[in-house]
Amino acid sequence: MGWNSWNQVRCHNLTEDIVKAAADAIASNGMREAGYQYVVVDDCYQGGRDPETGSLIAHSQRFPGGMPALGEYIHAKGLKFGIYGVPGSETCANFWDEYPIHGLGSLGMEELDAQTWAEWGVDYLKYDWCRADITDELEKIPAFLRMRDALVTTGRDIVYAVSEYGDDEPWTWGAEIANLWRTTQDILPEWDSVAGIINAQADLWPYSRPGAWNDPDMLQVGNGEFTDDVEANRAHVGMWAMLAAPLFLGTNVPDLDPQILGILTNPDVVAIDQDPLGKQAQRLVKNADGTQVWSRPLKDGVFAVALYNLGTEHQHITAALEDVVGAGAWRARSVWDQKDVDVTGGHLSADVAPRGLALHMLRPA
Ligand code: GLA
Repeated sequence: MGWNSWNQVRCHNLTEDIVKAAADAIASNGMREAGYQYVVVDDCYQGGRDPETGSLIAHSQRFPGGMPALGEYIHAKGLKFGIYGVPGSETCANFWDEYPIHGLGSLGMEELDAQTWAEWGVDYLKYDWCRADITDELEKIPAFLRMRDALVTTGRDIVYAVSEYGDDEPWTWGAEIANLWRTTQDILPEWDSVAGIINAQADLWPYSRPGAWNDPDMLQVGNGEFTDDVEANRAHVGMWAMLAAPLFLGTNVPDLDPQILGILTNPDVVAIDQDPLGKQAQRLVKNADGTQVWSRPLKDGVFAVALYNLGTEHQHITAALEDVVGAGAWRARSVWDQKDVDVTGGHLSADVAPRGLALHMLRPA
């Protein structure tokens, strides 16, 4: 859980001040206490390589204070520091954003770069494929393993997030290499992108487990179609929690609508997302009208149940508890308004807004 610069500023607007503002806000608006901790600087922080040592250096205009000082700043707020790298020679922004500085990739420099990041105080690495097969004829698994080994060699505890956009079923091999792996192409701040990603996760539940997670990409909360649409943000964040997904905000945190901040810090949402069993939700019902039922087992025999409406009309969604959480007596509570819901008839139901989600915790009675 945390923040990443990319969905907020992309490449050319990234600065040290943006990163510090995110850290300041997370440390003061309740997000840190809710569990948001990683502040990740994505692509376009790099200024090149030191001509003598070959070490990566930060962009001097964008990051005038330098990376070790930024790491200290983030740590002093009680947060953790994340950074971005690539296994080939070119970063994604070299290609997609015409970032003009080259030679930033870690190919042949894995140990040096891992050491540099460790010296900067880095706690999380996003390692992004970026066409390294085309530019450098690399193979994914050996390339990702080289950086894993380099990180281990530093002796620092660094979360390792790999990304190849779900192209080669990374859920089948990612757990051997990394702590999390992207399962999709880049998320956009549009409902269709978010709904498409949710749909594509339905069969991936067997692969996620504690320490090894499917990553359906960062949140678009606060951006584009998710700027202030409370229902859509509930569906987006609520389903990411059901998917046991990382929750990385990528928006201007100080500007967050208070109601949307409430979704992100809702204690049930965080408890579902971070549940220690680490089991990802399964989709149990998929109706032609765009209504779906998803269920996720949590610790202590509790279940999280999502009644999800992808459509553009209001829908009354009903699920038989016996089919969703099993026989027996249950108590249900709605996550959004924290109220008990009557399930004595053996059914859980809710009116669900278009592009919305009713989320519930079910406890054995
Ligand atoms: C790729 C990744 C994005 C971001 C950019 C940076 O597109 O999928 O999340 O890291 O590269 O250039």
